[in-house]
Amino acid sequence: MASVRQSPTDPVFVQNPYPFYARARSMAPLVQWDDYGMMAAFGHEAVHALLRDRRFGREKPVELRRPVPAHLTAFDTVERHSLLNAEPPRHTRLRGLVLRAFTSRRITGLGPEIRTLCHQLIDAFPTGSFDLLDAYCSRIPVLIIARLLGVPEEMWRDLLRWSHDMVAMYQARRTRVVENAANQSADDFSAFLREYTNQRRASPRDDLITQLIAAEEKSDKLSTDELIGTCILLLNAGHEATVHGLGNGVKTLRETGTDLACLTPDRIDATVEEILRFDPPLHMFTRYAYDNIEIFGHRFNRGDEVALMLAAANRDPEAWDNPDRFDPTSPIKTNASFGAGLHFCVGASLARLEIAIGLAVLFERCSNLHLTTPPQYSDTYHFHGLTRLMVAVDWSLTIAKSKKKYENRFNLHCVCWDCRWCGNLCQQKNSWRMPGMIRVHEVQNRPNCWRVFSIWCAEY
Ligand code: HEM
Repeated sequence: MASVRQSPTDPVFVQNPYPFYARARSMAPLVQWDDYGMMAAFGHEAVHALLRDRRFGREKPVELRRPVPAHLTAFDTVERHSLLNAEPPRHTRLRGLVLRAFTSRRITGLGPEIRTLCHQLIDAFPTGSFDLLDAYCSRIPVLIIARLLGVPEEMWRDLLRWSHDMVAMYQARRTRVVENAANQSADDFSAFLREYTNQRRASPRDDLITQLIAAEEKSDKLSTDELIGTCILLLNAGHEATVHGLGNGVKTLRETGTDLACLTPDRIDATVEEILRFDPPLHMFTRYAYDNIEIFGHRFNRGDEVALMLAAANRDPEAWDNPDRFDPTSPIKTNASFGAGLHFCVGASLARLEIAIGLAVLFERCSNLHLTTPPQYSDTYHFHGLTRLMVAVDWSLTIAKSKKKYENRFNLHCVCWDCRWCGNLCQQKNSWRMPGMIRVHEVQNRPNCWRVFSIWCAEY
């Protein structure tokens, strides 16, 4: 049996796990990863096959369950009632309820709202060097999932804190301090949701929490613990990975010097897919064998765990030509970043939309956004996201460049987003609504309203 050793907290691995993945993938379809004490699949074929194989699942087999230590009871209650850790028939019931809120019509309909939010966040960017994860990437998904669920969005800081504490339990550096913080946050998060859902019973709205409360009131559909577990899963899963999908995407685009034409509407979907293939935010998920199973030359006994290495599968040369190269022009091909099979990510279309709009609006308005410090990944494996993403935007350079580039071809009209200076002129001429118009959100260095000043270029 082929085996490998690699500490998931080794700083070199944390910054770049891909050479290790390539080495392990070249050994066999399944390799024993000694540091985790389990078999791991690193190749595209094995990862996709195991994700879809119903003889493997996420719920711990009964005979492996142990009494939960007292300091983890609140965390365990949330986890036990989450659909991510369930298998059919419980999984089918819970997932069905959630999917009602994630119809493609509902998600696509969020586009204008996400776009407006992106503009508002950019309007508030600080000057000089700042952390884009904090000012932009983390805000979009947390505010949107709070709105979709129907949780007060002004609580976003609490939601982020609770969520960070809880997901730290899945990271390689788990300690007693991490466990205590996760349990406390699970307790606080549950207490808040219990109180909030009680208030919301009397005031139904068009949001997911209203639908879940209705299902809970028909108690055969959803218990109160399941209602809370589902809300917490959606709030946590709804932003933790998207933040880093967006952050890793900005890093990749800038470090590879990729032409921003890859963000135009006709190319953005392929670019987002390539970002998620090339450097996904979640690298590994595990499954339990529910039977004695012979597969890919290995015999699993019931209860054995296997690691599915999503990010390694995405770089398999059997599936992609030149997989270590970031190429947003390559045709879309299914990658493993959102999983596959029964537990395929419920929020995949929402995450794709948030990343697409987040990147398009960011680079439309801040085309010269650049990294000011080389970004570093956090020591939080199996999560793969940056600690900070320090950037700066040179607004005056942006205007100069755009003028040089566009002046010969377009008439320029200026609209100040705050005072609407010159806005009437453009609107009277109906120029900025004309089909074929090119809109360039650039910012002119103008006293008083310099950060909200845009140039609209209309092709006449
Ligand atoms: C770039 C962003 C995202 C990535 C890379 C991602 C990735 C994943 C992956 C790999 C799984 C499957 C885990 C497994 O098979 O063991 C998953 C499941 C899940 N994701 Fe996401 N996710 C993202 C965003 C979201 C968003 C925005 C939401 C919700 C709004 C969400 C909600 C969920 C839920 C509820 C599950 C559990 C599905 C089930 O067990 O049936 N995710 N996600």
